[in-house]
Amino acid sequence: MSKGIEFLRNLVSVTVLCICFHGTLQLVPLPDFIHPCGELTDECFTKATLDAIPGVVRGIPEADIPPLDPLYLDRNITMNLPGNVKMTFHNGKLTGLSTCIPDKVSSRREKRTFIFDIHCNFTIRGQYSILGRILLFNLDTEGSAKIKIWNQRIHLEVLEKVIKDKNGEGHYKINSYKYKADYGSDLKLNLTNLFRGSPQISANILEVLNSNSQLVAQEFGGPILDYAIDYAMNVTQRFFSTYTYDQISKVPLTEEFFEED
Ligand SMILES: *[C@@H]1O[C@H](CO)[C@@H](O)[C@H](O)[C@H]1NC(C)=O
Ligand SMILES: *[C@@H]1O[C@H](CO)[C@@H](O)[C@H](O)[C@H]1NC(C)=O
Ligand SMILES: *[C@@H]1O[C@H](CO)[C@@H](O)[C@H](O)[C@H]1NC(C)=O
Ligand SMILES: *[C@@H]1O[C@H](CO)[C@@H](O)[C@H](O)[C@H]1NC(C)=O
Repeated sequence: MSKGIEFLRNLVSVTVLCICFHGTLQLVPLPDFIHPCGELTDECFTKATLDAIPGVVRGIPEADIPPLDPLYLDRNITMNLPGNVKMTFHNGKLTGLSTCIPDKVSSRREKRTFIFDIHCNFTIRGQYSILGRILLFNLDTEGSAKIKIWNQRIHLEVLEKVIKDKNGEGHYKINSYKYKADYGSDLKLNLTNLFRGSPQISANILEVLNSNSQLVAQEFGGPILDYAIDYAMNVTQRFFSTYTYDQISKVPLTEEFFEED
């Protein structure tokens, strides 16, 4: 074999090696708890979501996804309770995303929509301060807050599109989302030090609040759930940006599904 041909052969194999290596380097390996669907059925998506939740909640460093349970709130939440009561909540922490169970997950491909019906048990803890009037009492106090919500139902609709990255690989992109929550009635709120110096009055006020659990859940849980879902959508987008469409779905996409960013 002549030196020239041997050189060429080496060059070719090095080039081939480089291309393969390059090709695999670009894809972040899919975690083993992600089970791509080969069909667009509720059964498959529901199962895949169930399989994915514990792993995703533990965090996926390669996709820049931190552990999600507990989820720390990085901002203060202010709520206006009925009767001109202003409450601020800070150092908040939401526990329970890992308990979420999907009841039904559907893909409506023609509408570019995913629909999630899930339920979770949540505990929210943090510090509160409150200013206003509840019952006959003027309150100006602060303390720690704990709210436990059992079987919080969430209906979430996510509108997406598929865009191409610079290598021509498809990626989901979340366009928008909306959700509805049904807080059920299984809820318990505890605020310490509500009425300074009187545990009895504090307990009475708490009892009143707890007997209006739907209202409390909406006013108190609502903004925190807004935060948690927005956070979860941000995390989901990072997931979609890290893994290609072909990695996370076995249902081929026709060209018409790609859109401009
Ligand atoms: C959040 O509230 C706490 C207590 O009221 C306050 O000390 C802190 O400065 C607030 N943080 C922000 C970012 O507003
Ligand atoms: C929530 O907690 C209740 C009571 O502990 C339990 O029966 C239920 O299975 C839990 N639900 C979820 C979604 O974890
Ligand atoms: C609220 O929390 C405090 C402190 O943890 C506890 O002593 C009290 O029994 C709780 N109250 C209710 C109604 O659960
Ligand atoms: C989600 O991302 C947007 C855009 O980066 C940001 O403004 C928003 O604060 C994030 N939401 C949460 C809950 O972190």
